[in-house]
Amino acid sequence: MSYFNNFIKLFYLFGVGFLDKKSFEGFYKKSVSERQEIVAKEFSLTDSEKALLAKEGPLPFEVANRMIENVIGTFPLPLGVATNFVIDGKEYIIPFALEEPSVVAAASNAAKLSSGFTTSADEPIMIGQIQIVEMKDTKKALKLIQEKKSELLKALAKVDAMLVKFGGGPRDIKCFELKTERGAMLEVQLLVDVRDAMGANAVNTMNEKLAPMLEEITGGKARLRIISNLAVYRKARAKTIWTKEALLESVKSAGVKVTGEEIVERILDAYAFACATPFRASTHNKGIMNGIDAVVIATGNDFRAIEAGAHTYAWYATKEYKPLTKYYKDKNGNLVGEIELPLALGLVGGATKVHPVAQLGVKILGVKTAQELARIIASVGLAQNFAAMRAIVTTGIQAGHLKLHAYNLATTAGAKCEEVEKVALQMIQEKAISYSRAEEILKELRRK
Ligand code: HMG
Repeated sequence: MSYFNNFIKLFYLFGVGFLDKKSFEGFYKKSVSERQEIVAKEFSLTDSEKALLAKEGPLPFEVANRMIENVIGTFPLPLGVATNFVIDGKEYIIPFALEEPSVVAAASNAAKLSSGFTTSADEPIMIGQIQIVEMKDTKKALKLIQEKKSELLKALAKVDAMLVKFGGGPRDIKCFELKTERGAMLEVQLLVDVRDAMGANAVNTMNEKLAPMLEEITGGKARLRIISNLAVYRKARAKTIWTKEALLESVKSAGVKVTGEEIVERILDAYAFACATPFRASTHNKGIMNGIDAVVIATGNDFRAIEAGAHTYAWYATKEYKPLTKYYKDKNGNLVGEIELPLALGLVGGATKVHPVAQLGVKILGVKTAQELARIIASVGLAQNFAAMRAIVTTGIQAGHLKLHAYNLATTAGAKCEEVEKVALQMIQEKAISYSRAEEILKELRRK
């Protein structure tokens, strides 16, 4: 065995201890507690680590064990609420589940400074994709499918009677000829109104019914049949105004010498920068997703699907990666912000119905439809993006971020209970927020 392989083996033995792979055979067939024992033994967990794994929080192991495989415990996240949001004239308290400091405060502040959000959302139309290969004549195949469209849609309407009963169901079939390195293919898009579901199950079930019918019509072979996360027919939009006066007010406590007009100009510069380079557009959109993901997770939705759709959509319109928001001045010189992006969210099915805390999140929001949820989340994304840019072009991101991070640092330095507040406040007062300073203050505190 080569030197390199021997080294890896050695590292493996000493790096992680000798892992008895046999222990993990049939791991999925064991109970949660049996799996916890195996992990505790294999990784020499301490008693407190074992207790951490065994601690059952608001998501019971029995429920978690039905949600994913090989469950050994749960991974709690902080759950906060953003305040001050007025969306289409209605006040909302919005649950955020995430680990990053200052995001909740930033969204709350942005909402407070805004003139309230006006929104809209498309019908909940999702796309099912079917790939057809090995046809003799793709153009002819495409035409044949189009001729059979209404017959196919009628057949598909029978697949999910419940969805049709709630006003949903198959709406259209679109076909596109693709020239690929593997030769000509057909992309067949099945458009389905999925109502208040995210729609993956409904669409994929219809896809699997449609695939053999397409093979028969085209003489080709159906390969991939799966939902598309680029939900361009299921977008949500939000818009608001931040007045010059509100912007000036927002920096008063920070003692930054700048006018409201100047802040508007600086934000427009920041937006133009994001339009000009994907290196900024990427972070600009990450700032948006900070807020969006937090609410998506808090309501038990699939944030990976939302992220995939959002970032692809940021490229889709211009075939270049661009910001998901846009900013301009109104006739009074105030800052107008808008956002538009696909938001395929569900209130029925998935973790939303199974995860007890997700149900709590939906209850706190008081939403009744997936479209209302999408409009709220679009508003959060816009607020989050504005908050970050406003901070960066005025006080700098660290001022607010570190102020809230100070509590994390105090805790990491070992501060307990009321020590945390004392250490954090002293660092904020000194404007010296760092791990080493937290350690020094804690030592001085304990010497007293
Ligand atoms: P401030 O002016 O010191 O806040 O800003 P304030 O004390 O005047 O309070 C104003 C409002 O903010 C409050 O209103 C709260 O709503 C909220 P009030 O209730 O008092 O009437 N607020 C808080 N809410 C909860 N907990 C708190 C809290 N403090 C204020 N502790 C603030 C402080 C953090 C809001 C400000 O500095 C800020 O918005 N900073 C931006 C921080 C940020 O955007 N963080 C997001 C993560 S970083 C990120 O997005 C990635 C990035 O790369 C994206 C990009 O590049 O675009 C930056």
